[in-house]
Amino acid sequence: MGHTLKRGTPPPKRPSLMLFQLLVLAGLFYFCSGIMQVTKTVKEIAVLSCDYNISTEELTKVRIYWQKDNEVVLAVMSGKVKVWPEYENRTFTDFTSNLCIVILALRLSDKGTYTCVIQKPEQGTYKLEHLTSVKLLVRADFPAPSISDLGNPSPDIRRIICSTSGGFPEPHLSWLENGEELNATYTTLAQDPETELYTISSELDFNVTRNHSFMCLVKYGDLTVSQTFNWQKCPTSI
Ligand SMILES: *[C@@H]1O[C@H](CO)[C@@H](O)[C@H](O)[C@H]1NC(C)=O
Ligand SMILES: *[C@@H]1O[C@H](CO)[C@@H](O)[C@H](O)[C@H]1NC(C)=O
Repeated sequence: MGHTLKRGTPPPKRPSLMLFQLLVLAGLFYFCSGIMQVTKTVKEIAVLSCDYNISTEELTKVRIYWQKDNEVVLAVMSGKVKVWPEYENRTFTDFTSNLCIVILALRLSDKGTYTCVIQKPEQGTYKLEHLTSVKLLVRADFPAPSISDLGNPSPDIRRIICSTSGGFPEPHLSWLENGEELNATYTTLAQDPETELYTISSELDFNVTRNHSFMCLVKYGDLTVSQTFNWQKCPTSI
């Protein structure tokens, strides 16, 4: 039974009281000094500082917790580091640099407020020594869509496809010509269950006997990305 510390349960002896104190302090901290904010993109590395330097000797005595919202991410007790499963193999702490926490391969779900708590032994109990919160925002931006040619499904008709992937939240795709929305032939939307990131693609058929300038517009959240496709009508044959 190595897992006496459950996620969501703060490790100290009197969890609810301790947690309440932490929340109150975290609240005060927020209102007094404003909270540090770090913005990163999915798959990048986040380095969040605890803003506290520690000697090797001190390290074996103190308890260090990094919590996200109210769940433990990483704990250091008696100099030993324990990382909670969701962060395993991609999270570590740097004792030489402000006790910062380093999270690799960021996921969307990593966004939240991280709090570093340092407790020092004092008269047989652990007293709060230091508290820092850092807010982490994780973005997932769609790259500008790409448009490719799928050839002629029938004479005079050409089919093109517009697609983009790796963004969040859920996107909406539309085709426009001279500001008017067109009917797409076929649109697909998929979400990766692990990363939560979306992929969208849409096919459009058009008559090759006229000139065209199409815009493929992808909206997500309050952002948009787009691509244009121009077609010069075929020179009249025969
Ligand atoms: C972390 O890595 C170890 C060793 O490679 C592996 O056994 C374990 O399953 C990994 N844990 C997670 C959560 O991926
Ligand atoms: C393409 O446009 C031309 C000229 O407007 C029309 O005669 C032709 O029927 C159209 N073809 C299709 C398949 O819609």
